[in-house]
Amino acid sequence: MDSKKTVLISGGAGYIGSHTAVELINAGYDVVIIDNFSNSEKKAIEGVRKITGKDVIFEEVDTCDKAALRKVFEKYPFDTVIHFAAYKAVGESMAEPLKYYQNNLVSFMNIVEMMKEFNRPNVLFSSSATVYGEAEKLPVTESTPRQPATSPYGNTKQIAEDILRDCCRAYSGLYGIALRYFNPIGAHPSALIGELPRGVPNNLVPFITQTAAGIRECLSVFGNDYDTPDGTCLRDYIDVVDLAKAHVAAVDRMTEDKMKEKYEIFNIGTGNPVSVLELITTFEEVNNLKLPYKMAPRRPGDVTAVWADTSLANDVLGWKAERSLGDTLKSAWEWEKNVRGI
Ligand code: UD1
Repeated sequence: MDSKKTVLISGGAGYIGSHTAVELINAGYDVVIIDNFSNSEKKAIEGVRKITGKDVIFEEVDTCDKAALRKVFEKYPFDTVIHFAAYKAVGESMAEPLKYYQNNLVSFMNIVEMMKEFNRPNVLFSSSATVYGEAEKLPVTESTPRQPATSPYGNTKQIAEDILRDCCRAYSGLYGIALRYFNPIGAHPSALIGELPRGVPNNLVPFITQTAAGIRECLSVFGNDYDTPDGTCLRDYIDVVDLAKAHVAAVDRMTEDKMKEKYEIFNIGTGNPVSVLELITTFEEVNNLKLPYKMAPRRPGDVTAVWADTSLANDVLGWKAERSLGDTLKSAWEWEKNVRGI
């Protein structure tokens, strides 16, 4: 194993982690996946193996368990870690803040501490557009001021960004990149990996695909009285394979020693605002079906609109979102059908 070409992926059995593992392997990297399956399934690892035709090293490890994590660092050489392992349900984080602070921050601090202890250079962190809150000016650039977090989940993203920034400043051998994801959706075109939410989905696209599959009776559109062209919220929906490729571009930048600053931030989105109603209509059109939906009150905590200025990622990472919204929504439906045996 070549340490420069080996990447540790925490949460690599999860939705974004598994797609990133595939793209890294396709780009010639070896990956070591760690996951505790708190919100993922073993079959995602099988999916990665099937898609790539390559063996994937996997260890069942909880990133909060420092001793177990240290063993992974002792066992494998890798210069780069991508840290996905985290809880991500906004509502649950309001009800159980300690669970979120404990899991999301302890796991990340363990990673950074091990990087320092073992003199490994590169940390890539999964951040979120949630850090921008309700921005004054759209689209948001990386220098748009962050707003105070409105949930413990969002706060863990802001705090982890700050931990990475401060540690890169303090420790000479450490480099960090935070990718701020907009709204990741869709699945791998093979339909072998995709999003597998447990229970009732909080996010729009899994709720749509489960409604189309007959698991949910009707989709509620949360608010049609926003100050937007059709009254529903605007978001920047980024295809998960495109998002995975952004990670490869960021890892290339780190391992090829191209970073200009010790800590860099990139928005990862399409740059196109899409309303909830537009997304529903596109889903219906490309999949040739009708979705039962109704208007419902606003969901507390939702922002009216957020979308990315992606120039920095385009220019500096040489990365751009490529898949169309229609193709992405087709892949989401193909995946749901595959999971349900439809
Ligand atoms: C949320 C989080 C974000 C997180 C992402 C993925 C916030 C403010 N947002 O994004 O940080 O990274 O989830 O976990 O913390 N909608 C409906 N009906 C539904 C579900 C959603 O109309 O049943 C609407 C929402 O009102 C929103 C849009 O669809 O306008 C997207 O919602 P969702 O998929 O939950 O993502 P966000 O809230 O944007």
